[in-house]
Amino acid sequence: MDRDNIDLQSERIADLIIAARRIVVFTGAGISTESGIPDFRGKDGIWTKLDPEDFTIQRFVERPEVRKMQWKMLAEGGMIKEIKPNDAHYAVAELEKLGKLDCVVTQNIDNLHQAAGNSPEIVFELHGNMQYVRCLGCQKRFPMAEIIARLAVEDVPACEHCKGILKPDAVFFGEALPERVLSEAVKRASQCDLCIVIGSTLLVYPAAYVPLYARDAGARIVIVNIGETPMDAQAAVRVEGKAGDVMSRVMKHVKSKIGK
Ligand code: APR
Repeated sequence: MDRDNIDLQSERIADLIIAARRIVVFTGAGISTESGIPDFRGKDGIWTKLDPEDFTIQRFVERPEVRKMQWKMLAEGGMIKEIKPNDAHYAVAELEKLGKLDCVVTQNIDNLHQAAGNSPEIVFELHGNMQYVRCLGCQKRFPMAEIIARLAVEDVPACEHCKGILKPDAVFFGEALPERVLSEAVKRASQCDLCIVIGSTLLVYPAAYVPLYARDAGARIVIVNIGETPMDAQAAVRVEGKAGDVMSRVMKHVKSKIGK
């Protein structure tokens, strides 16, 4: 999509934002690639290099070598290296500052919406968060940094309290999503009048139900993504472009139109 067309579409999104009463932003890994975090199914995505089967809860529990591989990745900073929000995250935070955002529903575990300035209480993390590690035995939670520090001397850290298996607090394939978070996200989506999808293939359920609930409630759908999604035909505006560029243009149009 050429730049003029992207700007035209961004202005149309700005008009929808200004007219909307309750906006839900739904994000996927594509909003964080410009922060240096690879996505899963885009070009060079994680699943083009690693086997998603190794990230099922079943394999993690049954195979010590899978736990060892994942902790090694974490120790090498592959998952939680020094990461910063990008323009797209800051644009979503600005929506909240303008009083136009009901909530952010994210599939991401990188904490970048909160780091960009969105209030934690309106960021619903459907797939958990990499800030903590949970013991599968006694359910005790530990800060991720505390366990990473132990990896210098232990390949596969165990819970100090009950010797149980420690697992990053992100949701693995085959694991249930956090019930309260999911039900609140679905409730908010069903009450919104505009749902803006940014950087997701919308292929993984139940997360991908969230924009569908918004659509079924009569909300307008906006999609900002590089590559197709199953909801493209239902979008009031669909922009094929980089999240950082598009969302910066959108917020520039919003602010100039409302005189901010
Ligand atoms: N701007 C816009 N779109 C982008 C950008 C960008 N800068 N970078 C990547 N994309 C697009 C990709 O082309 C892809 O279409 O974002 C989309 C990301 O899709 P996925 O990699 O499938 O990520 P996501 O939809 O979040 O996956 C959902 O799957 O593997 C599980 O738990 C994991 O939460 C994840 C879930």
